[in-house]
Amino acid sequence: MLIRTPRPWSLSENQITPEDVYMNRRQILAGLGFGLTATAIGGGLFPKGAMAAITGLPAERNPAFTLDRDITDEEDATTYTNFYEFGSSKNIWKSAQKLVTDPWAVTIDGMVEEDITIEAEDLVRKLGGVEERLYRHRCVEAWAMAVPWSGIPLAKLVEFARPDAGAKYLRIETFHDSDVAKGQRQSWYPWPYVEGITIEEATNELAFLGTGLYGKPMPKQNGAPIRLVLPWKYGFKSIKSIKRITFTDERPTSFWQDLMWKEYGFWANVNPEYNHPRWSQETERLLGSNERVPTLKYNGYGEWVEPLYAAMPQTRELFY
Ligand code: MTE
Repeated sequence: MLIRTPRPWSLSENQITPEDVYMNRRQILAGLGFGLTATAIGGGLFPKGAMAAITGLPAERNPAFTLDRDITDEEDATTYTNFYEFGSSKNIWKSAQKLVTDPWAVTIDGMVEEDITIEAEDLVRKLGGVEERLYRHRCVEAWAMAVPWSGIPLAKLVEFARPDAGAKYLRIETFHDSDVAKGQRQSWYPWPYVEGITIEEATNELAFLGTGLYGKPMPKQNGAPIRLVLPWKYGFKSIKSIKRITFTDERPTSFWQDLMWKEYGFWANVNPEYNHPRWSQETERLLGSNERVPTLKYNGYGEWVEPLYAAMPQTRELFY
């Protein structure tokens, strides 16, 4: 297995400070990937790639969600992405076109009235169709964007699933197919990508299931045909290309927690007061520019989500 030593160039995105935390071999490899800076952003040279086929677009914009900054250029948001299944660099958008997203069955199971496997497009229809929302997005790596997502409130899926009274969490899983996604041949990662949130978080008004971007079906590299969008949390919680949603009473262990629990926690709520062990979280770089702006607690969405955490100890555990 290839073992490399981190070099400054591979860590530039995050303005990473000298490493003072112990990392095992898996962690070093993952840390390298997480810090890589794209060298070949499309910049208008390439098309954005094939789209998946969820309809109902463009959707009506929900005016409740406004921005404090310009919308990110579409080319930047669709060519600078994190999708480790296709590699650990930011310019995987071409490799992601191999993913077949139509048909795409999604399974809802676990502590629910009845397990169900349903085509993504039928699910969207059953949940009442899509709306558009402008949301900020803050990656744990300290880059940020602001984009128009199309999709459905996640609360509608929870209602549709009819969870048992004892269900406390949603465990959400991405596809696993190393023939298509060559990043999944890297056996030191705990594939498939998994995330977890509480039912209270899932039914918060902000929690969104994204099915489109910029008024078009979701590009494959951004998580077609259906992904999570949780704008008050670091971006790694917003799991792409969802295949399974399991209701459970056990707190799920996420992909990044499994790899590097000291660096990526379960709650991962954005907060500039708690730095990542290797870099500052005080500011963020707006995608497509070198402008840095201050990062806001809960990414500016405290009004919506603070009540979710008010009774919990306000310690680092909530914010990494
Ligand atoms: N989902 C999967 N399945 N695989 C991933 O590697 N990366 C996460 C998240 N969801 C990731 C994922 C991270 S780190 C971020 S910042 C966002 O996707 C990026 O979303 P975007 O590429 O659409 O901007």
